[in-house]
Amino acid sequence: STYKIAVIAGDGIGKEVVPAAIACLDRIAEVHSLDLEFTYFDWGSEYYLQHGRMMPVDGLEQLAAHHAIFLGAVGSPEVSDAESLWGLLIPIRREFQQYINLRPVKTLDGVTSPLAAKDPIDLLIVRENNEGEYSEVGGRMYRGLPHESAVQETIFTRLGVTRVTRYAAGLAASRRGHLTSATKSNGIVHTMPFWDEVVEETARLYPEVSLTSELVDALAAHLVLRPWTFDVIVASNLFGDILSDLGSSVTGSIGLAPSANLNPEGDFPSLFEPVHGSAPDIAGKGLANPVGQIWSGAMMLEHLGHPEAADHLQAAFESALREGFGTRDVGGTSSTAEFTAAVLSAIDAL
Ligand code: NAI
Ligand code: MG
Repeated sequence: STYKIAVIAGDGIGKEVVPAAIACLDRIAEVHSLDLEFTYFDWGSEYYLQHGRMMPVDGLEQLAAHHAIFLGAVGSPEVSDAESLWGLLIPIRREFQQYINLRPVKTLDGVTSPLAAKDPIDLLIVRENNEGEYSEVGGRMYRGLPHESAVQETIFTRLGVTRVTRYAAGLAASRRGHLTSATKSNGIVHTMPFWDEVVEETARLYPEVSLTSELVDALAAHLVLRPWTFDVIVASNLFGDILSDLGSSVTGSIGLAPSANLNPEGDFPSLFEPVHGSAPDIAGKGLANPVGQIWSGAMMLEHLGHPEAADHLQAAFESALREGFGTRDVGGTSSTAEFTAAVLSAIDAL
């Protein structure tokens, strides 16, 4: 069958790492006889500067006709970050009920972790992706006056917390059986105790999974001090966002980290993107690490039901790193193109 994939390279290094990953996906598709049909959308900050919006009015309808969405990064110094995030990524995540943001954190051979890691790190962060702290409820008052104020509400729903916990506990059950929930119920006294209750009730349905609730500040410290002890971490939208940047940094570079924005039921397309942003500081220089984007491509193949193709792609970029290829952020000297060429050779060799 043909897989229709919507490609949004976006801004900055998105325009460099997306073509690199597409080259790898094309080669994998050839080897595994998959029919991947890529359709390119020029949405992002340049589109915004021309049209006053990040994507066309019917953008979501156009995307809905695809099996998956492959995104680079959006964000530009010329457009406010709130505009770029709420004009493209957040509407896609919510409209398509991509309530799981799955972010693997894993030690890779050939990449030196900044920590003296005792054991290999292999954990999954499951971030709630549709509600929580990133809500539109709130407002600003009394601008310019001494009592100027801002209010931002957090929204947790029983449905939202239950389904993210169910997904995370299911993953833990298929792995080492440990689930850690990020909380802050000592300081945040309404929403976080609710989160804790629903997480506990839901995790109880998975007797093979042991649940630990940790205050997010302590959890952040533990992720630095002993990341190898974690299996699956379930966290709210904000906590999961912060913990996953931290997680990717302890393995070596944010340029390595992949993510999947999943609608597990498959009612809508899921979206695959690296954790990093558009990195305007290195854009256009051929320095960007394409691993996060390529790995996101492997997650996409897995989601589309082709684990053997996903494993092949994963093995290929891991082999390129092991052989000593790597971009500057992981201490190497390869350009984006040189590293990509090494992955293509590894695909052929494996
Ligand atoms: P960033 O992830 O773009 O960059 C942070 C640092 O990591 C920079 O020093 C950058 O050079 C480096 N870096 C990131 N990815 C790299 C890669 N693949 N290879 C080598 N080095 C890499 O985060 P920052 O600077 O906070 O944000 C820049 C823009 O990206 C902003 O407009 C922000 O809103 C946007 N952004 C977009 C995201 C998305 O599209 N999902 C996620 C995060 C930020
Ligand atoms: Mg982030």
